[in-house]
Amino acid sequence: MPIKIIRQDITKIRCDAIVNAANNSLLGGGGVDGAIHRAAGPKLLEECRALGGCETGKAKITGGYNLPCKYVIHTVGPVWQGGDKGEKQLLESCYRESLGIAKDKKCESVAFPLISSGAYGYPKDDALRVAVDTVAEFLADHDMLVYICVFDKKAFLISEKMFADISAYIDDKYARTALRCERSRRVLTEAAVGDYAVPSSLKSLSLEDIVMDIDESFSQMLLRKIDEKGMTDAECYKKANIDRKLFSKIRKDVHYKPSKPTVLSFAIALELDLDETKDMLMKAGYALSHSNKFDIIVEYFIVNGIYDIFKINEALYAFDQSLLGA
Ligand code: AR6
Repeated sequence: MPIKIIRQDITKIRCDAIVNAANNSLLGGGGVDGAIHRAAGPKLLEECRALGGCETGKAKITGGYNLPCKYVIHTVGPVWQGGDKGEKQLLESCYRESLGIAKDKKCESVAFPLISSGAYGYPKDDALRVAVDTVAEFLADHDMLVYICVFDKKAFLISEKMFADISAYIDDKYARTALRCERSRRVLTEAAVGDYAVPSSLKSLSLEDIVMDIDESFSQMLLRKIDEKGMTDAECYKKANIDRKLFSKIRKDVHYKPSKPTVLSFAIALELDLDETKDMLMKAGYALSHSNKFDIIVEYFIVNGIYDIFKINEALYAFDQSLLGA
C-alpha cells in the first residue's frame, strides 16, 4: 500500500497509530509532542511516565486515549548538528523502529509527522526525503498505509534550479499554446467551416464492425507494458504509489476507466517516454494539455527522463498542483 503525503494536523487523523516526535524523557514538550498530549488528555502522560524514557532513534508505544487513533508511537529524532554526527542514520532508525512496532501491533495505517524537522532543526526538505525513502523501503516488503503529514510548505522546497527549470518549461509551453489558440481563432473567423465528411474507409463498415474493432484498452496496455519491462505487478504498483486494491480492480476489469493521475503514475512507474505516455493516456480517454500546469510539470519530468514519483510530487506540490499516485 502506498505513501500519502498530506498537509494536516496529525492529531486529527483517523488511523491505527500516529507517531509522536518526542524527546528522550517521553514526558511531553512543544511542537507536535505538545499537540498530541493536549489532544490525547492527561492519561497519555501517565502511561508515558511508566516507560522510562527512550533513546534517540528508538520508539515506544502507548494507547491513543482521546485521539482518533488506537496507538501513539513515540520516537526520538536526532538533534541536527550539521549532518556529520550520524543524524541521517538516526532519523532513518526512527522511521524503521516505529514501523516495526506498528507492524507487530498489526496496524494497517500509520501517520508520521516530519520527525526532527521542527525544534530539532533537521532541514525540512532533507527530513522529507529521509521519511519518504525509509517508508518506501519498508513498504516494498509490507502492506500498510502510511501518511506523512507535512505541516508547512517549506518541506517541499525543491531546489531553486529545478524550480526555475520547471517554471521556464511551463512558460514556454503556455506561450506556445496561447499562440496556437490565437492562430486557430483567426482561421475559424476567416474561413467558413465545411460540412463534416465521413471518411470513405468507414462508409462500407457497419456500426457493429466498427465497435468490434475496438483498440487495446488501458488495462490491456498496462499489463502488456509491465510484461515488456520485465516488472512484477507489485513492483509496478508500488513504484506508481498506487494501492494494491486499485491495481487488482484494473487487472480484473479490461474496460476499467482510471483517473488521469492514475494513468500518469503508471506511465512514470513504467518509465514510458512521452509518446508512449500519450498513447497510454489516450487509451483511458485523456491527453496531455499545455493549458494545464499539472500536465506540463509531469511532461517536464518525462522529457528529462526523471521517473521518481516522489520527486515529481515534490515539484507538483511546490507549484500547488494535486499529486500523483495515492
Ligand atoms: N501535526 C503535524 N505536524 C506538526 C504538528 C501537528 N499538529 N505540529 C508541528 N508539526 P517538532 P522535532 C510539525 O518541533 O523537531 C518537542 O518539544 C512541525 O512543523 O514537533 O522532532 C519534543 O518534546 C515539524 O515539521 O519535533 C522534543 O523536545 C515537525 O512536526 C522536540 O520538540 C516536527 O517538529 C522534538 O523536535
